[in-house]
Amino acid sequence: MKSFLNVQDLGDLKVALAEAQEIKNDRYKYAELGKNKTALLVFFNNSLRTRLSTQKAAQNLGMNVIVLDVNAGAWKLETERGVVMDGDKSEHLLEAIPVMASYCDVIGIRSFAGLKDRDYDYAETVYNQFVKYSGKPVFAMETATVHPLQAFADLITIDEATRSMQEAKKKIKVVMTWAPHPRCLPQAVPNSFAEWMVEASRTPLLQNAGKDVEIEFVVTHPRGYELDPKFVGDARVEYDQMKAFEGADFIYAKNWSCPGVTEADKYGTILEDYHTMLDWTVGERQMAVTDNGKFMHCLPVRRNMIVTDDVIEAPTSLVIPEAANREISATVVLKRILESIK
Ligand code: CP
Repeated sequence: MKSFLNVQDLGDLKVALAEAQEIKNDRYKYAELGKNKTALLVFFNNSLRTRLSTQKAAQNLGMNVIVLDVNAGAWKLETERGVVMDGDKSEHLLEAIPVMASYCDVIGIRSFAGLKDRDYDYAETVYNQFVKYSGKPVFAMETATVHPLQAFADLITIDEATRSMQEAKKKIKVVMTWAPHPRCLPQAVPNSFAEWMVEASRTPLLQNAGKDVEIEFVVTHPRGYELDPKFVGDARVEYDQMKAFEGADFIYAKNWSCPGVTEADKYGTILEDYHTMLDWTVGERQMAVTDNGKFMHCLPVRRNMIVTDDVIEAPTSLVIPEAANREISATVVLKRILESIK
């Protein structure tokens, strides 16, 4: 695997989930695979979970790890070609990339959307420059439009929770809901979650009581927040949040700014003052109509904006196992990359 950006890069999800469980049973099983190999993790944006879990994953595989915080000690990087560099950016990404690549075997990139230019963000310009100019395998640690390590960890978490359900089910309902936030956030997490759930719902992937379980995936958000069809596919969109939550087994909450699909000139903005949208905050009122629904969020989360204290602290909240599974998803992805460059 030379690039990890979309769900197709991982191939058969059933195989990937089995591999995740193999790693979970013995996370050091492949500790020799990364010997004398170096992972460079490049952060253009802040991180807690991705930084720690990816570093731990690389160490599980015996790799050396270098972490670069571009905005804390490195030269400020220009990413656009043709710019007269007379400002505060001292180095161009087109020199910096091959230099960074000369010190490592694998590169992870965190580079969020600027939310100013939809075409630039959705072309994955920064990530693709690393792919083109590094000559090394590159994987996304949340880019402008996707966060596949998170989506894979989310799928692992849903797989585990489904297998441990008491009641035998043939189908589980997974609902992704928009929730309010005071700042403009990218669409990377909801794009990837939708992309992975749509793929996971194509064939029975999960198991409960030794039987196949299908996924029914529903997205709910206020009008104007429609996600890019490239990710959301033909998933059902339900604008009435309470209706969407009815009978749900999993509630995946996330805020995102306007994706610019139906409101092209409003890309990256908040459409309504969040004070007027607080009825979308996931609380006991909504969870009451689910089927003992489990609450999920990628973290970090703003309490009592996205979700109430009571819901996130309830025994049905999966936010901590979800974060812990980031180590597992990253270990599987790095293992696949190492196997491809042996
Ligand atoms: N969920 C996630 O990616 O967390 P961080 O931003 O802290 O890495």
